[in-house]
Formats: sequence, C-alpha cells, structure tokens
Amino acid sequence: MSLWQRIVYISKATFANADRGPVIEPQIGRILMQSRRNNPTRGLVGALYYGDGHFFQVLEGEAAAIDALLDTLRKDPRHDDLTVLSRVRIEQPSFSGWSMKYVAAADEVRRLLASFGHRRFDPYDFDDMQVASMVALLQHRPPAPDLHAEAPSRRDRDDAARLARRALAVGAAALLLSLLAIVLAWRR
Ligand SMILES: Cc1cc2nc3c(=O)[nH]c(=O)nc-3n(C[C@H](O)[C@H](O)[C@H](O)COP(=O)(O)O)c2cc1C
Repeated sequence: MSLWQRIVYISKATFANADRGPVIEPQIGRILMQSRRNNPTRGLVGALYYGDGHFFQVLEGEAAAIDALLDTLRKDPRHDDLTVLSRVRIEQPSFSGWSMKYVAAADEVRRLLASFGHRRFDPYDFDDMQVASMVALLQHRPPAPDLHAEAPSRRDRDDAARLARRALAVGAAALLLSLLAIVLAWRR
C-alpha cells in the first residue's frame, strides 16, 4: 500500500503584491530556498505557484511529513487563510526530482483562468475540477527558467571543492616540472 499522499493548499500572501512578470519576488525566492533546503531531508516534493497575491502549493510525501510542514506553514506570517483543498493517497509522486518546482505566472495559467471565466488568479473560487486542472498544469509546465536549477546540494559543493583542489595540485605539479626542465636546460 502506498504511503504517499498529495495535498493541495491555497493561501493569501501578506506581503505587498508584486507580480513582477519574469522577475521573482524576493520573498518567493526565499520561500523556494527554504523549501529546497528542507524538503529533501523530509522526503517531500511539490510545486508552488504564485499569482495575484495568492499561493497554490502542491505537496507530496508521507502523511507525517506533510502534517509537520502544514503546522509550520500555518505559523508562517508571509501568508494567511491557509486552506487545504484536497488530500489524496497517491501511488507515486508526480513531482519526483522537484524539492519545490516553481511555475511563474504564465500565459498558460491565464488561458486556464479564462477558460474558467476568471480574470484573476483567485483559487478560493476554484471547484474540484479547476483545482485538478491547475495541478495538471503544474505537473506538465516547465519551471520558471531562472529557478530551473535546484540549489546545489552539499554533495555538489563538496565535489566542486574536491575538483578545485585537484586542479590546483595538477597546476602546481606542472609548474614544478616546467621549472625543473628550465633548470636542467640551463645547466647543460
Ligand atoms: C507559501 C509558502 C510555501 C512554503 N513552502 C515550504 C516548503 O515546501 N518547505 C519548507 O520547508 N518551507 C516552506 N515554507 C516556509 C516555512 O513556512 C518555514 O518558514 C520554513 O520551513 C522554515 O525553515 P527553516 O527552519 O529552515 O528556516 C513555505 C512558506 C510559504 C509562505
């Protein structure tokens, strides 16, 4: 039996609404950094959408990890009115590989809203079908380009440091060999 669950929740941002087009609101950048730092250790994956002052987040993981994060999220002053729209058991995660995928306000979302007869992104008005359509959009849409890369993991950073040390050692050895060759040539 699968232990995975998916929840969808919505909330209202408490910071000044600054939909800056392709530029990501710094507050959202910070939320993504925290999510990408914390979620992997908790076995959580998911996606976040922000538009017109509203968050729409999908979280997938084990029930206990989801509940623990929900407790934290309810205390976060950057948003309020957190409302869980759905919670279902799933066979496998649909956002695997994404500690938190970010999808920026996009034409596709606008088109979806228009098909619902909405001009603004207000998920408090969504019915079940509209919630499911939004989840499907987050699953299939490419992430925002400037946040495509996940934050480098500690292992990535260690690997980079090891490579840099190796390159330095090779450089130093090459320099020594060149000096030796010069000295030998000079003595002849
Ligand atoms: C809309 C929204 C979504 C968030 N999503 C996550 C998340 O997926 N994972 C996470 O760890 N924190 C998330 N946070 C941040 C948490 O509320 C909390 O600030 C953070 O987990 C604290 O992390 P720290 O103890 O490492 O500083 C989110 C906050 C907001 C406002």
